[in-house]
Amino acid sequence: MCWAKLSKATEALSLVKPSEPCRLVVLISGNGTNLQSIIDTCAARKLPAKVVGVISNEPTAYGLQRARKAEIPTYVIDHRDFYRRADFDERLKRLIDTLDPSLVILAGFMRILGFDLTEHFLGRMMNIHPSLLPDYPGLNTHARVLADGVNEHGASVHFVTSELDAGPIILQSRIPVQADDTPSTLATRVHQSEYEIYPRAIAWFVTGRLHLKANIAYLDDTPIKV
Ligand code: GRF
Repeated sequence: MCWAKLSKATEALSLVKPSEPCRLVVLISGNGTNLQSIIDTCAARKLPAKVVGVISNEPTAYGLQRARKAEIPTYVIDHRDFYRRADFDERLKRLIDTLDPSLVILAGFMRILGFDLTEHFLGRMMNIHPSLLPDYPGLNTHARVLADGVNEHGASVHFVTSELDAGPIILQSRIPVQADDTPSTLATRVHQSEYEIYPRAIAWFVTGRLHLKANIAYLDDTPIKV
């Protein structure tokens, strides 16, 4: 059992030590650089967790190759094979459940998930989004930030709820927007910051420090304010 599954009472008494790393399942659709940073952080033993499966809705996602190289089982559920969105979600939910994760990690997973699935994994599913939420939910965040002339940008890790990019925020990175920035230069710097905050937020969860209660994220029993 990993820390995230130990009861609070047991933790407090320190009677039981976690005997196995927490099981992580990562969902991707593309390049998978965040997946890579999670794999690397686990391998460096900076995260007491293990990626036990990587699932992609895109058969050609490069992240699948990253997972195979790390000898992590991969699974493809192609959304185009499903007529109804709910059927795709159901298939995905069943597969994730068979992998028995403590935490489900969306890392560039480009499908909107429905209410049943997000409720099923409520409090144990996280996403990373390339903006300072609640600003700029949705797509093309870097171009929208530049078009608006704002001077600060970043990334947000949040618990997943049924509302797109709107779940309780866990951790954010902030970077200044420079006068000569393009969507691509901004994307590069935001990505770099993601590789720091996502493993950190995951570490909080797997060590039992992070919880979701009544739609509020708590770190060490203190509500997280951003
Ligand atoms: C990241 O920018 C993340 O914030 C967003 O999708 C992108 C995924 O990039 N959700 P990668 O596939 O991890 O390289």
